[in-house]
Amino acid sequence: MILSDEIKRGIKFVDNGLEKFLPSDKNYPNIIYKSMRYSVFAGGKRLRPIMLLAVCDMLGGELKKALPFACAIEMIHTYSLIHDDLPAIDNDDYRRGKLTNHKVFGENIAILSGDALLGHAFEIMACSVAQSGDIKEANAMKAIAFGAGLNGMLTGQVVDVISEGKSIDKNTLDFIHINKTAAMIKGAFSAGAYLAGADYKIINTLESAAEKIGMAFQIRDDILDVVGNVSELGKPVLSDEKNSKTTYVTLFGIEKSNNEVKRLSCEAIDILSDFGEKAEFLVELTKELTDRKK
Ligand code: IPE
Ligand code: IPE
Ligand code: MG
Ligand code: MG
Ligand code: MG
Repeated sequence: MILSDEIKRGIKFVDNGLEKFLPSDKNYPNIIYKSMRYSVFAGGKRLRPIMLLAVCDMLGGELKKALPFACAIEMIHTYSLIHDDLPAIDNDDYRRGKLTNHKVFGENIAILSGDALLGHAFEIMACSVAQSGDIKEANAMKAIAFGAGLNGMLTGQVVDVISEGKSIDKNTLDFIHINKTAAMIKGAFSAGAYLAGADYKIINTLESAAEKIGMAFQIRDDILDVVGNVSELGKPVLSDEKNSKTTYVTLFGIEKSNNEVKRLSCEAIDILSDFGEKAEFLVELTKELTDRKK
């Protein structure tokens, strides 16, 4: 298996789905569709949908049936980025190598575009569940809802913003990272497993690996905010310092943070390795993310 080829294939599959599930910008009022499409197709890594599909595939699920859920999680993630970049939150001007949504469409449309992506994601999943009547799909939607909402990303973002300018301890920072970032990755793994009809034991095992991958992912994000290359990252560096955020780097420095990324990733790989050869893609992806540059 060549990891980069597999990732490219995954991105293509997801992008075709997104093209199908996102309404055309010929619809009225054009501006909201243009704004949604602008951020979705700005060129993200598509990690969460790729993880959802990879887990589903590993457990023998049907990728075609999983596609609406993969696209929904990418729409929710994109909404979270549009809102995260707003002047009232991180106030950043670049994302995915392009001007942020509010810089192009204005704050009002950027807020509404995030709302629209969130709502549309649930519309797509609800339509799929209503059509199939499949409890596996209902559970996948539930897993994604948990990842995005008050049990996950939303609450992480709340504690992130109320902690700005304050000195917070490791427990609070871990709470932020587990919720704002790891919860959506956990949602992706969990949804993929539900769609494949996995039992609770397997779902719990995969969720524990996903949480470690998600934590490592956000610590690496904190590191890249300091040492990253703007053109490679596609978003600004030193955004955390600008916003007086406590991060893994401010608490522990670059070297210790990097060690923590490696430690968490190794633990996740250990868990995934129990799934044998079928887990090869997820294991290789986890390794690759450890020293990602973007
Ligand atoms: C950025 O996520 C926000 C974080 C949770 C750190 P990604 O790094 O996955 O962003 P895209 O989707 O590739 O743009
Ligand atoms: C945001 O974390 C995570 C989200 C839920 C959007 P950051 O604020 O660190 O993400 P970036 O660095 O802007 O991508
Ligand atoms: Mg933020
Ligand atoms: Mg940000
Ligand atoms: Mg960041």
